[in-house]
Amino acid sequence: MKKNRNPQIICISSGKGGVGKTSFTINLAAALSDKSRQVLLIDGDLGLANVDVMLGLNVQHNLRETVEEGRNPLEILVEIMPGFFVLPASSGVPEMASLSYEEQAFLTDSLERIIGNFDFVLVDTAAGIGESVLWFNDWADKNITILSPDPTAMTDAYALIKILKTRYNKKDFHLIINNVKNKKEGQEVFTNMSTVLENFLGVIPNYQGAIPQDSAVSMAVRRQKPFLTDQPKSRASMAVREICNKILS
Ligand SMILES: Nc1ncnc2c1ncn2[C@@H]1O[C@H](COP(=O)(O)OP(=O)(O)OP(=O)(O)O)[C@@H](O)[C@H]1O
Ligand SMILES: [Mg+2]
Repeated sequence: MKKNRNPQIICISSGKGGVGKTSFTINLAAALSDKSRQVLLIDGDLGLANVDVMLGLNVQHNLRETVEEGRNPLEILVEIMPGFFVLPASSGVPEMASLSYEEQAFLTDSLERIIGNFDFVLVDTAAGIGESVLWFNDWADKNITILSPDPTAMTDAYALIKILKTRYNKKDFHLIINNVKNKKEGQEVFTNMSTVLENFLGVIPNYQGAIPQDSAVSMAVRRQKPFLTDQPKSRASMAVREICNKILS
């Protein structure tokens, strides 16, 4: 690994649960590493980890040891494929989902000491608008919000963006619409969401792209592999590669 890079930290959240954060983040990481970038994926769902399960990892250590014992995150890293590394979190540990201010600061400090090794740091957050979701978003350089055409996913995404704007003074928001029938539906949902964000919050979001509803996604989750490698020619894989190119452009 080359050292002393200046990574871009991208936080992926949604408000509503189950809209596809973890599958998207894993596959974006795979796409970026495929383009020769060094990528660190942090499982930011600290108390209910999913990344390790979705990748079928047999995890020995996780971020709980960094928080509780000061373990160096480099000793926790798991390499998934060349250039794609995961920092796994713990599961079923409610204390990890509600870290104190000091614990948060300690964790961010520990992470900051190692991220110079990477070009991109992707944080897959928990659902909702809990403290960890907010401080990971605050820490990030780029905030991606995922939503689906489901009205409740739209209202929850709006609620998250409102808090990040009003409480954390975040200004740039990037939207991804998941589970769409076609590109047109993605555009329509984005346009509706943009109108609401602009009218009520004065936010003009950036469109990062849409991902179609595709059985390749659920199948890859069951096979515990990224769909990008499991079904590289699937519509979902092509959509994620397009989003990856946009991020790199
Ligand atoms: N584009 C898609 N097409 C088909 N199925 C999808 C798509 N995106 C996500 N899914 C399915 O939705 C389920 C939830 O996805 P995922 O776990 O990535 O969501 P999440 O937002 O991370 O959930 P949580 O909020 O619980 O962390 C997965 O089982 C996956 O199979
Ligand atoms: Mg998830």
